[in-house]
Amino acid sequence: MELAVSRGFLLPSAEIYNPSGGFYDYGPVGSVLKRRIQDEWRRLFLTEPGFLEIESCTVLPQAVLVASGHVEHFADPVTECTKCKQRFRADHLLEQKTMASWAGKQPVELNAGIVTEGIKCPACKSDLGVVGWANLMFPTSIGAGGDSPAYLRPETAQGIFLDFKRVFIANGAKLPIAIGQVGRSYRNEVSPRQGLIRSREFSQMELEYFFNPSVQKIDGFDKIAGEKVRILPPADGDMKLAVTDASLREAVDKNWFPNEILAYMVYLEDKLYRSLGIAHDKYRFRVMPHDELPHYSKGNVDLEVETSYGFIETSGIAYRTDFDLSQHAKFSKQDLTVFVEEEKKRLIPHVVEPSMGVDRTFWCVLESAYRPAGAGKEWEWFAFPPSIAPYAAGIFPLMRKDGLDDIAQKIVGELRSAGVDVYYAQSGSIGKRYARADEIGVPYCITVDYETKEKANEAGGPTVTIRYRDDGQQERLKISELAEKLLQFVKAGKVRKD
Ligand code: GAP
Repeated sequence: MELAVSRGFLLPSAEIYNPSGGFYDYGPVGSVLKRRIQDEWRRLFLTEPGFLEIESCTVLPQAVLVASGHVEHFADPVTECTKCKQRFRADHLLEQKTMASWAGKQPVELNAGIVTEGIKCPACKSDLGVVGWANLMFPTSIGAGGDSPAYLRPETAQGIFLDFKRVFIANGAKLPIAIGQVGRSYRNEVSPRQGLIRSREFSQMELEYFFNPSVQKIDGFDKIAGEKVRILPPADGDMKLAVTDASLREAVDKNWFPNEILAYMVYLEDKLYRSLGIAHDKYRFRVMPHDELPHYSKGNVDLEVETSYGFIETSGIAYRTDFDLSQHAKFSKQDLTVFVEEEKKRLIPHVVEPSMGVDRTFWCVLESAYRPAGAGKEWEWFAFPPSIAPYAAGIFPLMRKDGLDDIAQKIVGELRSAGVDVYYAQSGSIGKRYARADEIGVPYCITVDYETKEKANEAGGPTVTIRYRDDGQQERLKISELAEKLLQFVKAGKVRKD
């Protein structure tokens, strides 16, 4: 985290006012990396016909969140210190003490656990109070008089359900249809911790795939059904099963995944994590056992990644049935059914929802790409895949004089016009500039030197050096071919000379 802050990836929000935790800003290179992760998600999840993107409001009237169940149920179990009044997640305190999961336990069980384990206030060691529920939403109010209660949205999904009917009609009124969005969500976490992993303002990438429940299939599945992913199956009776490489078809046949649609979403998430450079053996798809499922769910699969904090859930894929649309239809008294031509009937579509956290994914990308000093470099650096690195290349004049800087700046302009993301740096020794580029994971450095200038009139035109990040090797390339070559290298993921 220190490195991420010092390199300008992340910044603790409102830091100079010593604020409460759980808020992070993204710095200059962090915001680009975050945008690239989101764009990669869009490229995979939102480019097929019928997969559409919206951007809905982040303030929602209370009625919406009463219907969705968030006002009543979106709460964490909390205990308050009887003396210093600090509040803690009861399940987290027990997890730290017993090294076992207490997720989903009721306050009575947690109370009993706290007593049995003899847990005291972590801050002042006094007795802890009775465990109760604390709602996680940030309340606000709408209008000058503040008389209309509202909340900051706790997930981006609700906006999609609210907009569903209009988007459906505007886009041909046919199922299936998928609506996604990328945006901020807010949860007033009792104990924000582990940096980006549990924060109070974060971003999600969510897709709702609306379909006719009598067609539990998705176009294109047959082509990818043989692809293998790492799955942690639910226990078979009392027997715990190990992580296994299984094909998507096998996972559906064994009932680990409720249908092909959810399997297809697993495939897309696997593809996304591969393209973000997260090592295949560092993540798995955990099938949630039936007794852990919410009452409306017909299947949940979590994407879990092994990090320095242990395994963290970065995404949940859920078969939410018609729960959300039915609730909104009931509470708003609006007709949210759609007409299904083939069956000549109206129905409320079912939904499979892949819901991924941007910030947790960002953290996993940072951790996977991190390389300590040593092994060829004296500095810590990041080995991002070129397609998501904050910049494709740094453009440097060897010296800040003799016209080398003018040539370098001209190259910057040409590369930017050709769609290559580059930055310019002229101060410091060339070695320092190479190190700085490595430190933020830039895959290529282009240097304009005296040979560029002196041999400007040679056949084929002047050349520059290109330095590859991972092996530090260099070679000369013609300026006239630079844009095309860099775009090719980024696409191919080339990070070494040979
Ligand atoms: N619409 C379903 C939904 O929101 P969720 O499991 O509560 O499901 C989905 O959230 C993802 O959002 C999580 O897997 C995680 O990556 C991210 N997320 C949830 N709470 C978070 C928090 N406090 N800080 C950072 N990311 C969070």
